[in-house]
Amino acid sequence: MKIAVLPGDGIGPEIVAQAVKVLEVLKADGARIEMETAPIGGAGYDASGDPLPDATLKLARAADAVLLGAVGGPQYDTLDRPLRPERGLLRIRKELNLFANLRPALLYPELAGASSLKPDVVSGLDLMIVRELTGDVYFGQPRGIEIRNGERVGFNTMLYSESEVRRVAHVAFGIAMKRGKKLCSVEKANVLECSELWKEVMIEVSKDYPEVALSHMYVDNAAMQLIRAPKQFDTIVTGNIFGDILSDASSILSGSIGMLPSASLDEHNKGMYEPIHGSAPDIAGRNLANPLATILSVAMMYRYTFADLATADRIENAVKKVIAQSLRTGDIWTEGTQKVSCSEMGDAVVAAL
Ligand code: NAD
Ligand code: IPM
Ligand code: MN
Repeated sequence: MKIAVLPGDGIGPEIVAQAVKVLEVLKADGARIEMETAPIGGAGYDASGDPLPDATLKLARAADAVLLGAVGGPQYDTLDRPLRPERGLLRIRKELNLFANLRPALLYPELAGASSLKPDVVSGLDLMIVRELTGDVYFGQPRGIEIRNGERVGFNTMLYSESEVRRVAHVAFGIAMKRGKKLCSVEKANVLECSELWKEVMIEVSKDYPEVALSHMYVDNAAMQLIRAPKQFDTIVTGNIFGDILSDASSILSGSIGMLPSASLDEHNKGMYEPIHGSAPDIAGRNLANPLATILSVAMMYRYTFADLATADRIENAVKKVIAQSLRTGDIWTEGTQKVSCSEMGDAVVAAL
């Protein structure tokens, strides 16, 4: 299996280095994997003036799976829009047709105290958000900033075709079938035509999955319910922008954004694996970041692309073990636990493996 390793910017290289340590252990144990590293985001721009250099895209296309850290940083925020790091990330998702983004929020019992919510609200949480990743207001045309009636206007287009909704619906229903057979489709159909179509297509697709209980919720209510009573949800399916926002919110249910991995899949289960958080410029370069979301993303790689569930379990069990050993990076640290650095956390996972 070929893995394209794209560390990116900020804490990206620090957290990806820990995930690579994990992959090296698996390799030493006989896993037939090859890794090759390439720049993306600000690092891509610095290397060749493009946040998604041709060579990086070529490597990612040829790979079976991609491991990505994070992109972005304040030094790149004033570049021309097409040159910004985030555009490189959006382009690689689009180029590889990674339309289904799986963002699981799961609470390790020992981290209940690290969440800002009451332990009884979050304990036992096991939620899957399926976020559509290559459509919506992120990609809809027209978009831009222009002068109208003597003043600047900014505009984007929220747009979904029925085929885009249908294919992510099938992924979400398939996942719900393997979980609690409950799927909540989140949209804003009371206001947006785009959401109205989304909801209609979800209902159509639900006919193929009679065992799954489909419900619908407006996104504003969903944001509230996620914080009020998150355990009412099993699987959520939603569009690109709503999924972006709701998944950051739900990360706090699992203790910290540093805990939440993701898989972005095409229809053949080729995937890109990345933590849901960003490049965390405020802590970058200081060996403080939590690498567990990235390491858990490697577990997802084994589960979804390599279909090697035993290895996925092995990685997840190693993470459980370091949590049980009371090792904590700063973001999940609580009184009475041992604070460790990013690289110490990586070493502990390697030892637990
Ligand atoms: P962020 O997720 O980078 O950081 C938000 C907060 O969470 C910060 O306080 C940060 O220190 C903390 N945090 C994030 N990851 C952490 C980890 N692993 N361990 C400990 N703490 C962690 O979001 P932001 O500050 O809004 O964005 C910073 C940059 O990252 C921006 O340029 C943004 O565009 C980019 N970004 C990239 C991705 C991605 O590459 N997938 C995702 C989100 C944001
Ligand atoms: C994420 C990020 C990206 C997104 C940005 C950096 C383009 O926030 O992966 O959640 O909005 O999808
Ligand atoms: Mn996001």
